[in-house]
Amino acid sequence: MKNDRLRVALPKGRMSDESLDFFSSRDLSSLKQTADGRELILHDAKHPVDFYLIRSKDVGAYVEQGAADLGVMGLDVLLEHDFDVFIPAKLPFGDCRLSVAYPEGKLDWQKKSEIRVATKYPKLAREYFFRRGFNIRTIELYGSIEIAPLTGLSDVIVDLVSTGATLKANHLVEEEIILESSARLIMNPSSFALQRSRLMQFIDTLF
Ligand code: PRP
Repeated sequence: MKNDRLRVALPKGRMSDESLDFFSSRDLSSLKQTADGRELILHDAKHPVDFYLIRSKDVGAYVEQGAADLGVMGLDVLLEHDFDVFIPAKLPFGDCRLSVAYPEGKLDWQKKSEIRVATKYPKLAREYFFRRGFNIRTIELYGSIEIAPLTGLSDVIVDLVSTGATLKANHLVEEEIILESSARLIMNPSSFALQRSRLMQFIDTLF
């Protein structure tokens, strides 16, 4: 189905400001003004483009199902969830890393027969520890992951690190980087098949 307007799903949360800044700076000028409100759909005034403000994990579902033609998503979330989408471009923001961390002075977790790993990324954590030959149990959490090993819920965490301030404030040691992540533009495969030139033209204006 061809829509009159392009539909772009943007993540709320960590990459929200950077995403809006990126598109706003590309002459999609109405975005910043209205984004301060509670509206979840922003209509660009100059171009036939609508932006949906969506929880970052849900951007994949919108684009995969074709409710949005394009979306912005971190590589970390993309690899964790295996969405069936095209990835036409790397975007110049959202830099962070997915790392293993543990409480200062508690390196003995490596000797445990089963390591408890608190994370929002159970798949990537399992793949990483499997490669290292460790037996683990993942505890899936939704936020404030750093508290888990401090309260005895887990031995280590696998979580995003950006500035490192949260790790430092909670006396956690970054042990190893699992993945270097940043934002990606994602695209619905059917939209690409049906509206190829319009989408490529739009992507061209972004770079
Ligand atoms: C992310 C991540 C870390 C923090 C890292 O959390 O899960 O907690 O940012 O950033 P830093 O290295 O710059 O300190 P987010 O703010 O998305 O909130 P959450 O804990 O609710 O997931």
